[in-house]
Amino acid sequence: METTLIILKPDAVQRGLMGKIISRFEDKGLAIVGMKMMTISQELAGTHYGDHKGKPFYDGLVGFMTSSPVLVMAVQGVGAIAMCRKMMGATFGSKAEPGTIRGDFGSSNSFNLIHGSDSPEAAAKEIGLFFNDGDIQTMDRAIQGWVYDMASGSPE
Ligand code: RTP
Ligand code: MG
Repeated sequence: METTLIILKPDAVQRGLMGKIISRFEDKGLAIVGMKMMTISQELAGTHYGDHKGKPFYDGLVGFMTSSPVLVMAVQGVGAIAMCRKMMGATFGSKAEPGTIRGDFGSSNSFNLIHGSDSPEAAAKEIGLFFNDGDIQTMDRAIQGWVYDMASGSPE
């Protein structure tokens, strides 16, 4: 099981797309184990996107991410990190394939609706940045045995 950090960015919240995007993750069988709305501070945005510091798009990115509330989610499932990245689509809305979240809901390159952790290391770090101890739920989902084949004892 993996848990990844997803942020529905200010454009997704302002455009009223939260429900549609959340549904995609739920429809896929992924579990939402943490969720909160917040306005990201300059400091938190800088830490979260620290790898991009100094790049030409950095100031605009931080300005955008702090401009209006976001929805932060912890999303769990087998292979959830790579699966969510695939569901998000390519970084730029203009290039993202139809069928992906960015491909279906956006056209802009910088207003690209959603963030998802890109590795297990990033996921662990980002969940720690955005959630406090106890914010991530441990759930026995009644549907788990129908989302996954549990015949071997572990989810497949
Ligand atoms: P994210 O971190 O938001 O999930 O996006 P990502 O992994 O697909 O893309 P990343 O390379 O991490 O870039 C972070 C955000 O910076 C903006 N960006 N602009 N103009 C540019 O060349 C450029 N490159 C990146 C995007 O908003 C991207 O989501
Ligand atoms: Mg990234």
